[in-house]
Parts: sequence; C-alpha cells; structure tokens
Amino acid sequence: MSTVGLRDVSKVFPDGTVAVDGVNLDIGDGEFLVLLGPSGCGKSTILRMIAGLEDPSSGEVLLDGEPAATLTPRERGVAMVFQDFALYPHMTVGDNIGFPLKVSGQTDRQDQVSEVAGALGIGDVLARRPGQLSGGQRQRVAMGRAIVRRPRLFLMDEPLSNLDSQLRGELRAEISGLVRELGVTCVYVTHDQAEALTMADRVAIMRRGVLQDVGTPTEVYGRPATLYVAAFLGSPRMSLMEATVKVVLDRYVALRLGDQELHIPWKDLRARAVARYHGERIVVGVRPEALLPVPMDSPGDVLRGRIRHMEHHGHESLAFVDVGATAVVVDEMSTPTNGKAPATRGLRRFIDRLVGSPAMPDGHRDNGDSSVFDGSGSGGRHSRKPAELVVRLAPYPGVNAGHPLAVAVRTDALHFFEESGARIDVGHR
Ligand SMILES: Nc1ncnc2c1ncn2[C@@H]1O[C@H](COP(=O)(O)OP(=O)(O)O)[C@@H](O)[C@H]1O
Ligand SMILES: [Mg+2]
Repeated sequence: MSTVGLRDVSKVFPDGTVAVDGVNLDIGDGEFLVLLGPSGCGKSTILRMIAGLEDPSSGEVLLDGEPAATLTPRERGVAMVFQDFALYPHMTVGDNIGFPLKVSGQTDRQDQVSEVAGALGIGDVLARRPGQLSGGQRQRVAMGRAIVRRPRLFLMDEPLSNLDSQLRGELRAEISGLVRELGVTCVYVTHDQAEALTMADRVAIMRRGVLQDVGTPTEVYGRPATLYVAAFLGSPRMSLMEATVKVVLDRYVALRLGDQELHIPWKDLRARAVARYHGERIVVGVRPEALLPVPMDSPGDVLRGRIRHMEHHGHESLAFVDVGATAVVVDEMSTPTNGKAPATRGLRRFIDRLVGSPAMPDGHRDNGDSSVFDGSGSGGRHSRKPAELVVRLAPYPGVNAGHPLAVAVRTDALHFFEESGARIDVGHR
C-alpha cells in the first residue's frame, strides 16, 4: 500500500533536454493512474524518477508522504514491468517468476510462485522455458515476476505495446483487474489513448514534459483542459474548427464557421464565457456523438456540407464532411514529428493532388497548405485545410464522397478553446 507525490518535479538531462517540466501529481493509495502522452513526452522519465533509477533535477518525489530521495530503488519496494521485458531464456517459467524471491534469499518459493502463476492463468506452463511460450504468456510471466514480491507500488512502462491488438485488449482487462484485486497502487504508462481510457482510475496527460490535464476518464474526455487533450482523446478524434464569435446580446452567441453559423443560446451558461471573445477567433471542437444526420432542409443548429470521403468499419460507416470551415490541426498527436508535418498529412495532400480535391462549398478555397497549430501559447499557426466533421452513419449507407449531407449539432456538447489552447468554460470540475 502506498501513495506517490510529485512536487514541482523537473528533469533536465546533461545535453539540455528538458524531459519533465514542473510536474505536480498525487497518486492515491490503491489507485490505477495512467500516464498518457506521445512518444518522447517524458513518461518513462517520470517512472524512472519514482523508481529511484533517475534523480529529479529539481523538485521532490514523495512515497507515502515522505521524501524518497534518500531511498535506494530497492528500498522503495517498487516493481517495474517494461515493454521489452527480459525473461531469462535458460530458466523455466517457475524460476523466472520466483527469481526476485531467490535474490532476496527466500528458499521456500514454490507456493508463492504457484499462487501467482495460477492467478495469471499460466499455472500449467511453469516447467516450460520462455522460448516455448506465446507473447501473451511471456507478458504474464513478466507480470508474475513483478507481483511475486508483493510490491507496494507497480510501475508499468508500455507493457502491452509489443503485442498484437487482440491480445492487448485481453491483457488490458486482465492487468487492471489483477492490480485492483491486489490493491497495489499502480502507475501505468502508455501512448495509447484507448488503453488509458479503458484501464485508468485517473488519466494524467503529458505533452513535452508538461502535465496537461488529470482526471477520471469521464472528466478528461468530457471536459478536456486544453486543445491538445481534446485532440488526443477519443476515436474518431474530435473535429476542431476555427470560429469567429459574434454576440447578439440577450439572445445568443453566434459562432461563424466559414459561411455557416451555430448559435449558443444565452441560457447556456457557457455563452457568457464565449461572449468575451466577441469579434475574435476561437477554436470549436465537436465529437461525432454531438452530430446527427438530418434532412437537408431541417431548421435549427444544422451544418450543411459535402462528404469528402467515407470510412466503413463494418458496424458503422463514418462520413467526413466538409462544411466550409477551416480545420485546426494540433501537432504531436502520436509520434514525435520534430516540427515536421506527420507523414499521414503529407500523404493526404499527395492523394488530394493526385485525384483532385472534391468540389468545395462556395467561397471555400483549399490551397492545400496545412501548416500546424501548435497550441503552445504563441497563438499558433493555422491550417488552411478544410475541417472535416466526422459523422456516424449506419453501415454502408449508400452515400459516397461528393454527396451533400446536413447534420444537426448539439451545441451544448461543443467544446471551446482559446487559440492559445486553453479551454473556455464556466466553473470547475
Ligand atoms: N538519458 C537521456 N539523455 C538525454 N535525453 C534523454 C535521456 N532519456 C530520455 N531523454 C529525452 O527525454 C525526453 C523524454 O523521454 P522519455 O521519458 O523516455 O519519453 P517517453 O517515455 O514519454 O517516450 C525525450 O526527448 C528523450 O529523448
Ligand atoms: Mg517511454
């Protein structure tokens, strides 16, 4: 049983790399906390500082409320599981699991090893060697080795990244179930937002060493603190568009999206928060669950546009609809891009050039320049790409690219952000 505290923790490596930048975080006893962020954002460095394998450059790590600086990694009582967990190839599964007990001088290990192996569903392969196991079984052995000494804290660094997606899904549930059963506090690192949302009690989202948001999956998904968090969570991703704000006092706040408008009624408390940006540009985010296809002549908060392309997923089809608004693209969503545009965007542009862009609604010019909004507080540069609303349709709905489509928008489910990336909202969660 254990709590973890990070107080203004920073890590600057000798070459000047700021891997972790002023992180404050409290992890409760028995909590399953997921550290989420793209590759290179400082997740592993945080884990290594908690484990005592790396010292903070400034700030403090607390274990059970006490400064951990004087404790060796061994004294911290943590167990780590890595992505490329190394099992001893020449030892049996049983000996691999029992190894930490052996190292600590325990002679009677059989019962503990059997119990742990049984809990992990690998009780029948104890005599095998790692080479004779499947990937999933090997990962279970690594888990078993971490559990067997009853650590006070689990630190897991992308333990499922090397497995295929089917197995990942199974092990997600197994690991989070097992860890909760044991009641051991766990810090789990991943770059996979779906993994984070399904496994975590709370998710902490990082970007470039800076903590962006912390909350339950419902909180961070439902009210993302920054544009970056909004763009990172959810599949399909939130559509982000430029909008100009126009206040019609006591009636509504109009959001101008290209040639179309949405109205936030005054009775929506957030209208007042958005009204402060009268005459300015903000970012409007909309998830597929806030959109419903309707007949073209429907009244109310409806956006009309043309389908740019379709994606068929079997159980549903997704229409990517151009409504004449300009997209806001947030960089660094997956792998580090070093300031370069992600490869997929280049590919999209290449395909657009090859096949010619589908017809745009009147007045919309697609000049193919997709510079990137970086949300770092400088105002950012903006993409001139057309925004695409992602609309869920029934499977194989018989509409194709080029078709017109109207969608009703639930304005109470829109997300608003400043161009600097900060959320525009009322109250606190
Ligand atoms: N020993 C080191 N020396 C210099 N830079 C490092 C070192 N370890 C990590 N980094 C850098 O620190 C940043 C954060 O790394 P890391 O914590 O491994 O990120 P993540 O686990 O989120 O992928 C990266 O830019 C990485 O290149
Ligand atoms: Mg890492």
